[in-house]
Formats: sequence, C-alpha cells, structure tokens
Amino acid sequence: MKRVAVALGSRSYSIQVGSGLLAELGRHYSSLKLGARCAVISDVRVAPLYAAKDLKSLKDAGVDASLITIPAGESAKRLRNVERCYDQLAAHRLERKSCIVALGGGVVGDLAGFVAATYLRGIPFIQIPTTLLAQVDSSVGGKTGVNLAAGKNLVGAFYQPRLVLCDLDTFKTLPEREFRAGLAEVIKYGIIYDAPLFRLLEKEMPKILRRDTQLLTRIVARSCEIKAEVVSQDETETGLRAILNFGHTIGHAIEAISGYGKFLHGEAISIGQVKAAQLSARLTGLSGAEVARITDLFRKAGLPTTLPMTRAFQARLRDAMKLDKKVSAGEVKFVLATRIGEVRWGQKVPAELLDGALGS
Ligand SMILES: NC(=O)c1ccc[n+]([C@@H]2O[C@H](COP(=O)([O-])OP(=O)(O)OC[C@H]3O[C@@H](n4cnc5c(N)ncnc54)[C@H](O)[C@@H]3O)[C@@H](O)[C@H]2O)c1
Ligand SMILES: [Zn+2]
Repeated sequence: MKRVAVALGSRSYSIQVGSGLLAELGRHYSSLKLGARCAVISDVRVAPLYAAKDLKSLKDAGVDASLITIPAGESAKRLRNVERCYDQLAAHRLERKSCIVALGGGVVGDLAGFVAATYLRGIPFIQIPTTLLAQVDSSVGGKTGVNLAAGKNLVGAFYQPRLVLCDLDTFKTLPEREFRAGLAEVIKYGIIYDAPLFRLLEKEMPKILRRDTQLLTRIVARSCEIKAEVVSQDETETGLRAILNFGHTIGHAIEAISGYGKFLHGEAISIGQVKAAQLSARLTGLSGAEVARITDLFRKAGLPTTLPMTRAFQARLRDAMKLDKKVSAGEVKFVLATRIGEVRWGQKVPAELLDGALGS
C-alpha cells in the first residue's frame, strides 16, 4: 500500500493506493470522525460488483449507510441525476456531518462530488475510484461537476474529498479498453513531469497490461502524486495546472467532432499527445528520437496514435479547438514538450504548422 498526501492547507487529505482497501472504508470513516449517516453513490454497473463490500464495511463500523445508484456512462452526468440524488439524500435524512462516498469511475466521482459540494451547501465526501482514469486523474484535483446539453462539464465546483481510496482489486472487472484508455493519462504524466516514470512505462508495459498489482500500486501512486503536486501549486487553474492539458487541445476537439462515444477520452488524447509531440519537435526542441519513443509507448499500450483526416475534417477540428474552453481571446495555446519529462505551456502554434501536424 502507498499513501500520497495532498497538501491543501486545512483541506489536505490522503490518497491510499493498494489492494483490499474497499473493506477498510469503515475503519477510515471512523477515524475521520464523520457523521453516523452516509450515502454511497454508484452506477448500475459498479454497484452490483462492489457496493456490498463498502456497505458492509461501513455497517461494521456502526455507520448507517444507504446506496444510491445512477445509470452508467457519460450521459448519466447530468443535472436530472443530481436532483434525484438530492431527493434521496433528503429522504435518508442526511445532515451537515453526513458523508457521501463516490464509488465508481469519473462519471460517478464528478457527479457525486458535485452533489456533496452543493447539498446543504457542502457535506464531506470520500472518493473510491474504480477505473484507472478515475484513480490517476479525475479523483485528484477537486474538480466536480456535470454536463449540460450545450457541452461537457459546464456546471461544477471545486471541492476536495476527505479521503481517496484507490483499490486496485477493482481493476479485475475493468474492461480492457477502459484500462488502456486510463494509461494515456499515465503516459502523459511521464511526458510532462517525470522522465523516470516514462522509462518505467517503456520497460514494463507488458507487465502493466497484465495488471500486475505491485507495479500498478507504484504507477497509480506516482501519477496521483504528480497531479496532486501540480494542483496544489495551482488549485484554481491560473498557470501551472495547464500542463495537465498536454495533448488535450487536439484530443478534446477529436472527441467533440467525432461525436462523443466514438473515441474514449484516453484514445483521443493519445492521438492528441502524439500530434503535440510532433509540434514540439518543430517548436520547442523535442528530438525526433523522443517523438518516436512517445509514439511507440502509446502504441505499446494499445492506443491509437494516428487518425486519417480529410481536409474537411481538419477544418472542423481547427474550429472545434477554438471553442475549447481553455482558449482565451480566440487564440489556441498549446502545451509543448522540450524533452520527455518537461513541458512549456502557453505556446503559440502558427496556423500552417498546425495544419501540417493535423494532416500528417
Ligand atoms: N474531475 C476531473 O478532474 C476529471 C478529470 C478527467 C476526467 N473526468 C471525467 O471523468 C469521466 C470519465 O471517467 P471514466 O473514464 O472513469 O468513465 P466512467 O465513469 O463512465 O466509467 C467507464 C465505464 O466503466 C464502468 N466501470 C467503472 N469501474 C468499473 C470496474 N471496476 N469494473 C467494471 N466496470 C467499471 C462504468 O460503469 C462505465 O460504464 C468523464 O465524465 C470526465 O469528464 C473528470
Ligand atoms: Zn484527460
């Protein structure tokens, strides 16, 4: 088991990574001195697999816990389900000291976190992320929220959990495609921040794909540590945090115009990161050999690295990038790498270079 401390002053908390953690929820709950009533929010796929263990652990610790389920998938991340959760919390008479446990992937974490941030103007919450993406990305950093018809994550709040339990046993049931998609964020941490992590991934990818627990404990903990370090230096996204968007400007645009659902987020940002690496070779001194290593690592993880594009598709992609909410004053700025392990944000990319990268 590994522990990562997230330093945010009075809102500091710890992330625990290892196996067998679901059954320890009750013990942690008691030591955090949270209220006697609690609600576990999960989705209809994850709840039948793991909720019983959580509920038993809470019950054994003397906590009165109820289960609330939402539908599975991105389309569940909407206000209607938030309202349903509020109604059930009220019916179960949850109060200010009561706690919400988010048990599931990023969809559950984002929605349950938003419910916790807003119900009674904020009650404590605990995250138990069950996808690789949720463990290394969405459960760290305090962003919560839901989608609107007009776009993703348009309503939300910054709200930190009291504890995050990353139980690697939950990967036993995680579909292969979801697991690989999560690896795209892990590889990102290597590129933006940590060359030794990148080398470890290069060396051990087959073992990682076999989901070796010891190795994953190390990799998940290191990924959380990196995200936590970046976020604690820039909690509300005014500077450094931008580096987490490496490969995301192009990735988000690919997701948007392919129709959400065609590519998983991790797949789209895998292509986006390869394109960003190619741009980095032109603009920020990343070597050709490093571009090849980056491309190769995504390939070894079973992720897509290219996307054949017609001219019309390229034009739509460029328009979609301008709509990205990270764009200020109509100018698309990129995070580009200087070498593996180091990036610069706020980089302007001349239009013809961008076209060249998208076309290749
Ligand atoms: N808050 C943030 O900072 C942040 C960062 C990145 C992504 N996100 C959000 O995260 C969401 C994506 O998260 P995700 O990729 O985890 O998707 P998800 O929550 O939809 O989970 C993917 C699928 O796997 C199922 N599942 C989850 N855990 C499982 C398990 N252990 N075994 C079997 N099936 C399981 C789910 O039911 C779902 O069908 C998006 O909404 C995105 O906006 C948020
Ligand atoms: Zn991402």
